[in-house]
Amino acid sequence: MQHAIAILDSGVGGLTVAKEVMRQLPREKIIYFGDTARTPYGPRSSDQVRLFTEQIVDFLLQFEPKMIVIACNTATAAALTYISEKVNIPVIGVIHPGARAAISATKTGDVGVIGTVGTIGSGAYTAALKELSPYVNVISEACPLLVPLVEQGLFRAEGTTDIVKRSLQNIRDTSIDCLILGCTHYPFLMDSIQEVMGSNVKLISSADETAREISTILYEKGQLAKSDESPVHQFFCSGDGEIFKKIANEWLGEQIRRTPVVWQVS
Ligand code: SIN
Repeated sequence: MQHAIAILDSGVGGLTVAKEVMRQLPREKIIYFGDTARTPYGPRSSDQVRLFTEQIVDFLLQFEPKMIVIACNTATAAALTYISEKVNIPVIGVIHPGARAAISATKTGDVGVIGTVGTIGSGAYTAALKELSPYVNVISEACPLLVPLVEQGLFRAEGTTDIVKRSLQNIRDTSIDCLILGCTHYPFLMDSIQEVMGSNVKLISSADETAREISTILYEKGQLAKSDESPVHQFFCSGDGEIFKKIANEWLGEQIRRTPVVWQVS
């Protein structure tokens, strides 16, 4: 039996991490859960986000995954430590990988972070960045309007760039030379964000670095998949399966043939 990598998110945002895992580790099977009925997590309390994350992890554990990836920054900030202590397989989040990528990209030491109200309010990025490099100057901004846009599939819609522009107006006029997309939904809006920030600001998505970390952990544990057969990924969501499938197919390029199984969350 091939043990999968379980990836969870509040909705479709974690597909940005799943896509990178598929690219870097094409032999690995993925079991994905998007909590689309309860998205967004950003405005919720950290206790509630921790509870939702725990419920999803309990659901995913029935598939006996070899690793859990919390591909949601809000859930990483609220629940990574708690979940890591609860289960006996590796659990990783997306905040430390994003912070590492930013530290290696910045030349000036002025790093921007955008995320949900929950992520920015938690201070988790500032703490992770300063742990790596105490002299880094972190400028953060919560952008609550962006996740709902992505969950509705409006990432290429007319008017999206205007909403992105309004969300980034404070951080745009600062001295940052790189900007962490501190929410896994934001890579869907990469083009608009780059257009607004200008070409001198490098955008950092934690997806690449998270996939690298998964690869390192599985390599060190001797658990990288060896089969030459293409893995059959499984997708679950808690909301409308057709909307999930439409967004996933557009993002992943027709990886999902069947409508994802809908799991009713209480
Ligand atoms: C959210 O559900 O509000 C965003 C997910 C994330 O923080 O990555």
